[in-house]
Amino acid sequence: MNNTDPRAMNTVQGFELFAALSDEQAEARIIEARARLGKRVVLLAHHYQRDSVYRHADFTGDSLKLARLAASTDAEFILFCGVHFMAEVADIMSRPEQTVILPDLAAGCSMADMANLEKVERCWFELTNTLSTPDTRITPVTYINSAADLKAFCGEHGGIVCTSTNAPSIIDWALTRREKVLFFPDQHLGRWTGYKKGIPLDQMAVWDPDLENGGLTTKEIEHARILLWKGHCSVHQMFQVEHIRNWRAHHPDGFVISHPECNLDVCRESDHVGSTEFIIETVAAAPSGTHWLVGTELNLVNRLAERLEPQGKVVKFMSPTVCMCPTMMRIDPQHLAWTLENLANGNVLNPIRVPAYEAERARTALTRMLETF
Ligand code: 13P
Ligand code: SF4
Repeated sequence: MNNTDPRAMNTVQGFELFAALSDEQAEARIIEARARLGKRVVLLAHHYQRDSVYRHADFTGDSLKLARLAASTDAEFILFCGVHFMAEVADIMSRPEQTVILPDLAAGCSMADMANLEKVERCWFELTNTLSTPDTRITPVTYINSAADLKAFCGEHGGIVCTSTNAPSIIDWALTRREKVLFFPDQHLGRWTGYKKGIPLDQMAVWDPDLENGGLTTKEIEHARILLWKGHCSVHQMFQVEHIRNWRAHHPDGFVISHPECNLDVCRESDHVGSTEFIIETVAAAPSGTHWLVGTELNLVNRLAERLEPQGKVVKFMSPTVCMCPTMMRIDPQHLAWTLENLANGNVLNPIRVPAYEAERARTALTRMLETF
């Protein structure tokens, strides 16, 4: 580095300087910046991150594990390689003097965007008209894949957050307190969880936020134990039960494992259903020589297949079409190098800061989850 090198100056370097870097060049800059930052920064990565990002992580995990890691790290900066709602959780659960950075602010989650505060408040208002006292009859449960203000809504209304790992215990918790659950934004996780608890399908009504009263009659709302918000994951909706049946025809002794964001038929036909961490642990612990069909994002599946091949395990992706999460993919080595190098130069780019009034109520709902399950 010399005196004219922008890396030696305290000026913000624009992304355009990094966009043209090859992955190898970006990697070298990442390594150099991390060496300068040392223990001041911890890099957390979700399992859907591409390899060229994932390999730099200090810790990897599913959303529950990453939330716990963010709450327990001492690092001054948490560089979050995941999507926006995960970085928000990290900000809410970390200490005020810590800063969470999301390398690309466009890394959102299309499922999380299917619910927003305006629509959820309108839903609650409409439920008030129908059930008169929703706060005593319904527990709002938000999947962690949601914006911070929806977690705050749950905190305020006696509700809670859940993840794909703990959804069954959270639904139990919710239904022992009040007779009904309003579950948002993923109808599939809610339906699968309710189904496993033995709740009949006709007692799980879909609430369409774009229709008056969710498109339901008063009788249907009264009859429902779980109101399922009409949201879904665009990646997991690609997996279909035919993919499983076709594969089983050739691998009758094989095992199928899926994420609970898949539809009910796919979950029902799977041998195991669980979070990304659960999927990795289950396949990794299986006997050598076993065959697996996996229904979740492609980066995870490819990495697992490569890792377990030497053990004689064959791991296949469930869909014939490529299903990567386009928003997780926004985090690339170039954005990582850009944010890390600026950070090493004293410039904090892309900090995620949930407003205090919102964070406090969201923390209530998150803490209920983290302390109970
Ligand atoms: P996990 O919590 O299982 O990692 O899932 C997060 C997610 O967004 C899956 O699409
Ligand atoms: Fe959101 Fe689906 Fe991507 Fe998960 S895979 S982050 S639910 S869009």
